Amino acid sequence: MPELDLPQRQATDALMLTGFWYRALPADRVRRNQLHKATLLEIPLVIGRDREGRPFALRDACPHRGMPLHYGAFDGENLECPYHGWQFDVHNGQCQLIPSLTSDQTMRVDRIYAGSYPCEEQDNFIWIYIPDPGPPGAGFSKPAEAPDAAPQIEKLSDKYKLAHLQAEMPVSIDHGIIGLMDPAHGPFVHQAWWWRSRHSIHEKKKNFEPIPSGFRMSAHTPSSNSAPYRLLRLYADADSITTTIDFVLPNIRTETIRAGKYWFSSLTTVTPITRNHCRIDVVAAWNIFRWVPFGPELLKFVFAKFVEQDRRTMEMQAEGLKHNPHLMLIEDADCPAKWYFQLKAAHLEAKRTGAQMKHPMEGPVTLKWRS
Ligand code: FES
Ligand SMILES: [Fe+2]
Repeated sequence: MPELDLPQRQATDALMLTGFWYRALPADRVRRNQLHKATLLEIPLVIGRDREGRPFALRDACPHRGMPLHYGAFDGENLECPYHGWQFDVHNGQCQLIPSLTSDQTMRVDRIYAGSYPCEEQDNFIWIYIPDPGPPGAGFSKPAEAPDAAPQIEKLSDKYKLAHLQAEMPVSIDHGIIGLMDPAHGPFVHQAWWWRSRHSIHEKKKNFEPIPSGFRMSAHTPSSNSAPYRLLRLYADADSITTTIDFVLPNIRTETIRAGKYWFSSLTTVTPITRNHCRIDVVAAWNIFRWVPFGPELLKFVFAKFVEQDRRTMEMQAEGLKHNPHLMLIEDADCPAKWYFQLKAAHLEAKRTGAQMKHPMEGPVTLKWRS
């Protein structure tokens, strides 16, 4: 039985992957001309919107003497450090002004940068691209460019509704993610009289297949314990309902449920804040329940309960993890967790060698467990 490499002991760069987009803040929390503090992958950030409403993200440390820039003054275009008044363009971080310079001092102000990060707004969230750490010499490094656009929720029609749920977990991203994909905790963590009891446990069989940087639970009729499925069954033929669940690095779980012209889709992320702290964000889009009274509210209620049950569980788990216990992964229920660790290792190896990433799964696999 393989032992789990304890996330608490992993180096930061093996625990939290750089070179990816991460969800930073719900878009409606960030107003024009305002500054917000945030942390992603242990990087302190200041996030805001310029006067036109375009979001930006800077490292929350002045390149001069490290003053957190979120204490500074922001005029909707430039951010002024409160210590010596250096000013920075918020979109590329370039220094605009050093007030202490005299007219005959020729220092090149424009060569100085407060680190800035690519920023995008997608499905009511501000996403930030965290590049691989650059060579030393911060303070003079130009902003990195993101190789691709931020992830989006799959939408299968023009009209849809969008909702968001969030919870903070006092565990590493690894525990957050393997908790999210873990099929065996359902009957114990998510029991409720109106939902299921531990006696509803039964054998399940699911097919998985490799996809780039991740794996897919192949299209199947959803588990009878799935919340959207139960609601969909209210007015769609049970057999016509299929769901596909994907996981891709670094932290993305997507689920798409189709029932004829109706659909429900979600994009869930587990974002590393620090090495022992992560945040789960579920953003869902759907075109169903528009005629069902309380449909969305009911769904949100069920999801909120689930997320809260997971949060509470991980809070308790964190108590145990403090003491660096030995951990294990078992067949078949912990296979998705194993693939996650293997995908991460393969990704890092490919980055190290410059070779193509070698996918840990050779082909489709069927897993069996009771839940
Ligand atoms: S620390 Fe920011 S201007 Fe000096
Ligand atoms: Fe759960």
